[in-house]
Amino acid sequence: MKRILTGIQPSGTLHVGNYFGAMRPILDLQEQGQVFVFLADLHALTSLQNPDALRASARDATLDLLACGLDPERTIHWRQSDIPEHSELMWILTTVTPMGLMERMVAYKDKVANGIPASVGLFTYPILQAADILLYDADLVPVGKDQKQHLEATRDIAVKVNETYGPTFKLPEAQISESVATVPGLDGRKMSKSYGNTIDIFMDEKALRKRVMSIVTDSTPLEAPKDPAGSNVVALYRLFATPEQVAQMEADHRAGGIGYGDFKKRLFEAIWEYFAPMRARRAELVARPDYVDDVLREGARRAREVAVETMERVRTTVGLR
Ligand code: TRP
Repeated sequence: MKRILTGIQPSGTLHVGNYFGAMRPILDLQEQGQVFVFLADLHALTSLQNPDALRASARDATLDLLACGLDPERTIHWRQSDIPEHSELMWILTTVTPMGLMERMVAYKDKVANGIPASVGLFTYPILQAADILLYDADLVPVGKDQKQHLEATRDIAVKVNETYGPTFKLPEAQISESVATVPGLDGRKMSKSYGNTIDIFMDEKALRKRVMSIVTDSTPLEAPKDPAGSNVVALYRLFATPEQVAQMEADHRAGGIGYGDFKKRLFEAIWEYFAPMRARRAELVARPDYVDDVLREGARRAREVAVETMERVRTTVGLR
C-alpha cells in the first residue's frame, strides 16, 4: 500500500479555500492508501512566536481535521514536535545539503519579502520538511503548488545522501493538486488569509451570513439580466450546491428580476447546510478534550515506530553507530 504523507502548518482559522484546496484532498486520500498527516508545529515556530497562539492553532488544526473526517483508526495523525526524530534527522540532512540548494528556495525569499524575519530556521525550513518526509519513507506527498520546489529539494537531498553513503532513502513523489480550482474570496481574488477575504467554515450563523452578504458583486440593477460566468456568488455556490441548484441560479441570473442579495442568501444557506455535520462533530470534540489528546498520543506512538526504525538505519549508515 502506498504511504501518503503530508504536513499541515497550523495557521489559524479554517476557511473555505483551505478546505477545498488542502483539507478535502488529503482526507479523500484516506480511501487510497495509508495516510500520515502531522501538524508541522516546529515549522510554525519560524513565523509564529506566540506560545498561546501556537498552542491554540495546533489544537484547532486537529479539531478541524477530525471534524472534517480524519479517521484516526486508519490515518496516523500526530504533532511533529512529539517526535524528536524529525529534528535529529534534519541535523544529519543539513550536513549534506548544499548551501546553493537552499539559496534557490523562493518560498524563503517570498516570506522575507512579506516581513517574516530572516532567521536561520526560516532558511533551513525546507531541510526540516525533507526530514519529515524521508523519516517515513513516504511514496506520495500531496501539497499545494507553492510547495513544489520544497519537494524537489527533498528529492535532491535524498539523492545526495544516497550518493554519499549508499542507498538510504526512497525518493518521494510530489502530488500537486493542480485540478483543484482556486476558490475565490469575498473580493474575487484567491481566497487567502493574507487578503482578508476569507469565509471561515466554523463561524457562527450570524457572522457567516454577514461575510457572505459582503461578497463583492458588480452593480447590475436588480431587474437586469446578470452574467453568471462573471459572478463570484455562482463560483462559490458551485462548491456547495447540487448541479440542479446551480443551473437554477444561473438561469435566474440570466432572467433578471432577482438581485445579488437574493443569490447571496441562497449561497449562505448552502454553505451553512454543507458544513452542518462537521460543525456538529466539532462541537462534540470540543466537549471531549481528552479524546483529542488520545488521538494525538496514539498517532505519535504509531508514527514513532516508523521514525525510530528509520533513524536506526540512518545512524548506522552515516557512522553514528
Ligand atoms: N511546508 C508545508 C506548507 O507550508 C508544510 C509541511 C511541513 C509539509 N512539512 C511537510 C508538507 C512535509 C508536506 C510534507 O504547506
